[in-house]
Amino acid sequence: MERDQPFLHMNGGKGEMSYANNSSIQRQMMLKAKFILEETITRLYRDSSPTCMKVADLGCSVGSNTLLVISNIINIVHTTCTLLNRDPPTFQFYLNDLFGNDFNTTIKLLPDFYTKLLQYKEHDSCFINVTPGSFYGRLFPSNSINLFHSSNGLHWLSQDPLLGCKDVASLNKGHCHIVSTSPPEVHKTYLKQYQQDFKLFLKSRSEELVPGGAMVLMHLGYHETPRRTSWEIVSLILNDMLLEGLIEEAKLEWFNIPVYEPTVEEVKNVIEEEESVFLERLEVVISGWDEGLNIEGGDGENVRAEIISKHARAALEPLLSEKFDAEVINEVFVRFQNKILQIMKVGKLESATFIMSITKKA
Ligand SMILES: C[S@@+](CC[C@H](N)C(=O)[O-])C[C@H]1O[C@@H](n2cnc3c(N)ncnc32)[C@H](O)[C@@H]1O
Repeated sequence: MERDQPFLHMNGGKGEMSYANNSSIQRQMMLKAKFILEETITRLYRDSSPTCMKVADLGCSVGSNTLLVISNIINIVHTTCTLLNRDPPTFQFYLNDLFGNDFNTTIKLLPDFYTKLLQYKEHDSCFINVTPGSFYGRLFPSNSINLFHSSNGLHWLSQDPLLGCKDVASLNKGHCHIVSTSPPEVHKTYLKQYQQDFKLFLKSRSEELVPGGAMVLMHLGYHETPRRTSWEIVSLILNDMLLEGLIEEAKLEWFNIPVYEPTVEEVKNVIEEEESVFLERLEVVISGWDEGLNIEGGDGENVRAEIISKHARAALEPLLSEKFDAEVINEVFVRFQNKILQIMKVGKLESATFIMSITKKA
């Protein structure tokens, strides 16, 4: 079921609106998940000692976040090997994302990365490859990968869930995501797509993992209280612009943001259905959207709202540009920044991230 999704990727390059320059919030989340990575690697090494450790980062996107994943994994494995008195392995890393992803920007960071690695480890102990394709389908040979890592990508669905559901789409007219006024059918259709996608993801990874191999996955989820999401805010803004006559109704008709934030129960149900894997641990981390943005002073709120808005733009601009011109997109993110500022004045902007460790049953 590999589909080409030319508009689903983050902003490439190293410019002001690029993902490479607007992904520090995702980086914070990756750092918060490090303890589960440590625990998973320790468990993996208890049962096996690969001479070549094959690791794939799924949905790696553009920039240095994926290199942080690589160096974290190398460091954790080295520490584990020292503790267990074993020789460290050679590493083979595969960077995966969709075909439209700007892999070149990341590849250009590799010479520096290898040089730094050489300062404290042998360079020829780490080989980095690129594997383009959808993680909702097979990417690697059977029984070939020791560890999968995926951060901030699995809430993206394989396609617009309302595509081909004319009746349901018409119930959500004027919106491009689930909003508080959306009828239950819209939510159900998103959920169905999520279940289908995540099931296929787990089945594919399970076939690709060596017995006893593991995955560390983290993505956005819905936990306890309703929280605002970027997708909902963009939907409300586009609806306002539609009512103000700034965009045509036809443009919104077949445009839906393909993201679903599942509940813990929904995630667990899909994992339980895939009998070849076992959920070792699932943690929910609640974080402020501006966490880690240490900007103080009189203008701090404005600057934080601008940074949050640029982060959202880096993730959503390619998708929006499928339907809307640059002028509309600029206006969307001016309004997005204002909305964030308003919300910050009266309450908190938080999201829930699910961090999971899953193993393939031996
Ligand atoms: C927000 S970025 C996360 C990047 C990085 N892992 C991080 O945490 O900073 C999500 C990435 O997932 C990728 N993605 C979404 N659906 C995908 C799919 N079906 N297969 C592979 N990558 C996908 C997107 O293209 C995007 O680059």
